[in-house]
Amino acid sequence: MTAEGSDFVVVANRLPVDLDTAPDGSRRWKRSPGGLVTALEPILRNNNGAWVGWPGVPDVEVEPFEDDGLELVPVPLSEREVADYYEGFSNATLWPLYHDVIVRPVYDRTWWEAYVEVNRRFAEATSTAAAQNATVWIQDYQLQLVPKMLRMLRPDLTIGFFLHIPFPPVELFMQMPWRTEIVEGLLGADLIGFHLPGGAQNFLYLSRRLAGQPTSRGNIGVRSKLGVVQVGFRTVRVGAFPISIDSGEMDEKSKRKSIRDRAREIRAELGDPKVIMLGVDRLDYTKGIDVRLGAFHELLLSEKVDPEDVVMIQVATPSRERVESYRHMRGEIESKVGRINGEFGRVGHPVVHYLHRPIPRDELIAYYVAADVMLVTPIRDGMNLVAKEYVACRSDLGGALVLSEFTGAAAELRQAYQCNPHDLDNVADAMMAAIEQDPEDGRRHMRAMRRQVLAHDVDRWARSFLAALDRTGEDTAPTQMV
Ligand code: ADP
Ligand code: F6P
Repeated sequence: MTAEGSDFVVVANRLPVDLDTAPDGSRRWKRSPGGLVTALEPILRNNNGAWVGWPGVPDVEVEPFEDDGLELVPVPLSEREVADYYEGFSNATLWPLYHDVIVRPVYDRTWWEAYVEVNRRFAEATSTAAAQNATVWIQDYQLQLVPKMLRMLRPDLTIGFFLHIPFPPVELFMQMPWRTEIVEGLLGADLIGFHLPGGAQNFLYLSRRLAGQPTSRGNIGVRSKLGVVQVGFRTVRVGAFPISIDSGEMDEKSKRKSIRDRAREIRAELGDPKVIMLGVDRLDYTKGIDVRLGAFHELLLSEKVDPEDVVMIQVATPSRERVESYRHMRGEIESKVGRINGEFGRVGHPVVHYLHRPIPRDELIAYYVAADVMLVTPIRDGMNLVAKEYVACRSDLGGALVLSEFTGAAAELRQAYQCNPHDLDNVADAMMAAIEQDPEDGRRHMRAMRRQVLAHDVDRWARSFLAALDRTGEDTAPTQMV
């Protein structure tokens, strides 16, 4: 960042690095290998870029610093703010509300006040970091008030916002006591991006109803046919930009000899079963880990699958562990794993292998290569990158993907074994169809899904959003408004 500030600023709840504490108490920055960082890094470097975000631990005050050519601007959060803004309003109010109220959202005025305060701090830090006429891209549900706050501080900026989780149906969004503030907060942006046209369409309706602004009619497309909200003299665009992964890199890595050897080793370690089923998720109640365990249990009980032939691996990253609904769900899942193994396992031969920890990237790719059936069964998910990662890793055209209809990925991966996670029989049927698939059909399905995932990677996602954001400056006459 120069003294005048950066020309391109990404704003996200977390920095692309976390402040990690070693056993000896010393602290160092640990890079998080997320797809967003990978996609945005080249754009940030080529554009004198900065990233504004929380360092991931409470009560640390760090000055902005440069990391490998990237300007990082830490926004500090106190212990109280982590509890009220992050665990509270973001993850016990917005998260369940936007994921179809799977658990009941908590509406707490103190949490809302912390959300407003922390969003203001992010807006102020961004305002300081951004150069005159810079482009700012704000990420996700934790920061929905930042677009409006930032516009008031810096009307010269071009502001984009992208929501990484689903945008809920209107009837559910209307529960939110601060619904108008949130819609107006988002309308501070020049372009608001969602994964799916449906979410964008819901937002247009709410802009009319809650903010009283005229909007375009007509369907919104995928990366095309943007919607329009007229906010006074400003025109806000609304569109669908489904996110993706660095598919080229995963494809390349999955072909490496070391990874393929490790995949064979994993199979041998499991006792060379006929079928390996795999789940990989953050331990979150939206992911339907209980659903797939329930369906597997039924298949074992009905003797449709033989525990000697089929094993399931569930890798679950610990997540938001202080939030009550997460603790509760962990207990339920772990007791279900115990029950299935108690009923169907043998000494030295469990049917469900459960790991409650993140695993290194290359190890994860080896698991994808080893898995005959990938289980992705969320009750609701904005996109689900795991489904796309599995497909990107199957250059051998092997494997089968069981995919919930309630994920964003289902709109793109039409050839998966799609299922309704609310219908356990349907999930069990999809699992059986995947286990018993004809190898030639499987190759055909995988080829079609790979074409989609390899052609639409995270770089294309970022570039299509930023190109649309760039065009918001052009003075195009809005379409028909209502
Ligand atoms: P979400 O963003 O809700 O966590 P996604 O499926 O979209 O869900 O993305 C999750 C990301 O985290 C993927 O890139 C996936 O590979 C990674 N991930 C999830 N669980 C693990 C795990 N146990 N170990 C390593 N990486 C994981
Ligand atoms: O995809 C939604 C999301 O909240 C992202 O913003 C975040 O990177 C990921 O899930 C993990 O969540 P958290 O930052 O709360 O650990």
